[in-house]
Amino acid sequence: VLVVRHRMQSSGKWAKAMDIVKEFEEKCATPIAKLRQVADAMTVEMHAGLASDGGSKLKMLISYVDNLPTGDETGVFYALDLGGTNFRVLRVKLGEVDNVKKEFEEVSIPPELMIGKSDDLFDFIAGELAKFVATEGEDMQIPAGTQRELGFTFSFPVKQSSIAGGTLVRWTKGFNIEDAVNDTVGTLAGGRYTDPDVIAAVILGTGTNAAYVERANAIPKWQGLLPKSGEMVINMEWGNFRSSHLPLSEYDENLDSDSLNPGEQIYEKMISGMYLGEIVRRVLLKMAEEAEFFGDTVPSKLEKPFILRTPDMSAMHHDSTADLRVVATKLKDILEISNTSLKMRKVVVELCDIVATRGARLSAAGILGILKKIGRDTVKEGEENHKSVIAMDGGLFEHYTKFRNAMQTAMDELLGEEASRNIIIKLSNDGSGLGAALLAASHSQYREYAES
Ligand code: GLC
Repeated sequence: VLVVRHRMQSSGKWAKAMDIVKEFEEKCATPIAKLRQVADAMTVEMHAGLASDGGSKLKMLISYVDNLPTGDETGVFYALDLGGTNFRVLRVKLGEVDNVKKEFEEVSIPPELMIGKSDDLFDFIAGELAKFVATEGEDMQIPAGTQRELGFTFSFPVKQSSIAGGTLVRWTKGFNIEDAVNDTVGTLAGGRYTDPDVIAAVILGTGTNAAYVERANAIPKWQGLLPKSGEMVINMEWGNFRSSHLPLSEYDENLDSDSLNPGEQIYEKMISGMYLGEIVRRVLLKMAEEAEFFGDTVPSKLEKPFILRTPDMSAMHHDSTADLRVVATKLKDILEISNTSLKMRKVVVELCDIVATRGARLSAAGILGILKKIGRDTVKEGEENHKSVIAMDGGLFEHYTKFRNAMQTAMDELLGEEASRNIIIKLSNDGSGLGAALLAASHSQYREYAES
């Protein structure tokens, strides 16, 4: 009798755990109709953000980049790329036979500087930059007395006041410093240098964001003179997008309210690398608490926010061994959960799939929103249909294959066969640092040096 009762109880718990998974899955569903609503909402918010400052959750920041690289730039330029926990200093010589010669150094930022005074952070960066400039070799062949020019790419929202000035809107992604060109704008410039069909850039990494080329006369909030090119790059800060159409679950809501920036970056919190593993952890924790999924005690490690990182989630999601050995190892090493059954490990993989697929499909909807805004989402009868290339950067897109594939599938579904032939998503690795150097070139103060 005892054995039977025990079985009944445990199957009851299993059923309860499966209910939690099922409910979560339903909340996260992203059928095409929903993605279209998200894309339309994105387009609407883009218009609103361009109309006036504060007109939308989308900041639609004017980058003052009105002149993208053409591929003809020459000279030596420097760039500084400050993204997350590292920064890079680069030196590029443009106009070489193979087009660019690139040297760089990567420096990690001491953790105390990430939460301290901005002066200390920037003093440190300036010191490292000076050391790097001192290593400039004769092979760069820079005429004596030449001023060096530096592009600065910064993966935080900056409200710019000119090509070389601006103020930080707010720190995101765990940085907390006061005061400081955006990485998406750099990626767009880097992409355009090698491919004139690049019209937008998207970052899918620790955070997520997009920049694109807008018609200057479609930016009502811009009071300045219209640039000669007639174009202006806009840093959307799309991570802060929010809409009632977003498929939010209770786990997302709790993650948000426990975060450093509650109410902000809602779209980013559903999509980007900083958060995906954390969402999975939260669902597993609920299953442990309410359905004893990992036995009669809740594994204490599972209670630790952000302990399950997205690269580990990705490794579990891609586990192709028959007995899901990778999942077993990760659960043991990270969460100290051992003796999981194959059936349980399958559920873990399923959760990874739900979370990654939702993020991937939502990012595809965002891209569709941009394409709609600039009229590139459909094939036009009787007209020449240009290719539209989206330069993509970020570790999430680069390394999380199932995320990348789910995103491409959603793009194809949304655009349809014919239109999707003209839309190309292209990995533009490390484009943002190079892009910053290129922008220093295309906006150079020293024209004869910049233009061939
Ligand atoms: C965050 C930042 C944004 C940046 C993005 C990608 O969303 O707010 O400025 O572009 O991460 O790095």
